[in-house]
Amino acid sequence: MKHLVAPSLLSADFLNLAQEIEMINTSEADWLHMDIMDGVFVPNISFGFPVLEAVKPLLKKPMDVHLMIVEPQKFIQQVADAGAYMMNVHYEACTHLHRTIAAIKEAGMKAGVTLNPHTPICLLEDILQDLDMVLLMSVNPGFGGQRFIEHSVTKTARMKEMILSKGLSTLIQVDGGVNEETGKRLVEAGADVLVAGNFVFKSSAPKQVIRQLKAL
Ligand code: DX5
Ligand code: ZN
Repeated sequence: MKHLVAPSLLSADFLNLAQEIEMINTSEADWLHMDIMDGVFVPNISFGFPVLEAVKPLLKKPMDVHLMIVEPQKFIQQVADAGAYMMNVHYEACTHLHRTIAAIKEAGMKAGVTLNPHTPICLLEDILQDLDMVLLMSVNPGFGGQRFIEHSVTKTARMKEMILSKGLSTLIQVDGGVNEETGKRLVEAGADVLVAGNFVFKSSAPKQVIRQLKAL
C-alpha cells in the first residue's frame, strides 16, 4: 500500500482555519490529523470539540483524532459525534484498553493506539489484533516543531515485523518531527501514515510539501 499523509492542524493558522481546510481539501493529503491536549497527560493545551465541530462540515478528508488526554474513554461518543474517522488513544492513558478499543469501534470509528517514545511495542502483543492502527510518537507529545527521535525508525521497523509476523494489516502511523528526510526513512522502515505539522503548515508552499511527502 502506498503510504498516506496526514497534516497536523496543530501548526495551522487558527485565524484562517477555513483557508487551511480548503488547502487540505485541494491537496494530496489523505487525512487531517487533529491533536487534542488536556494539560494533564501532556504539558500543553491545544483545542477541543468546538474546533472539531467547526472543521467537520468544511473538511472533505477523513478526520484522524489524536487524544493526548487522561481518561479518553469518557469522550468516545463526543469524538464520534464530532465526525472522527479514526480515534487514537494513548496506551499510557488507558487502564482498560481492550474495553476502550471495543467502545471506539462500537461508536463507528476506527481504533488506534498511540505509544510514547519510551513505551515498548511488546506491550501491544495482546491487543494488536483488535487495532486498526498503531501511532508511534517520534517526539514526546505536547508540542509541534520538535526534533525527531532517531530511535523511532528502528521502532517502526520492529513494529512492522510484529504486525507481519501475526499476519495482520494494522497501519503504522508516525507523528513528530516528520520531514522529507525523516519521512523517507520511516516509509522505508514500514510506516503507512506520516503525520506532519510544522513541515507542512509553516511552509510557504504547503501543497507542494504534501506532494513531496506523498512522493517519498
Ligand atoms: C505532538 C503532536 C503532533 C504535532 C506534530 O504532540 O501529536 O501531531 O502536531 O508536529 P510536528 O510535525 O511539527 O512535529
Ligand atoms: Zn498528533
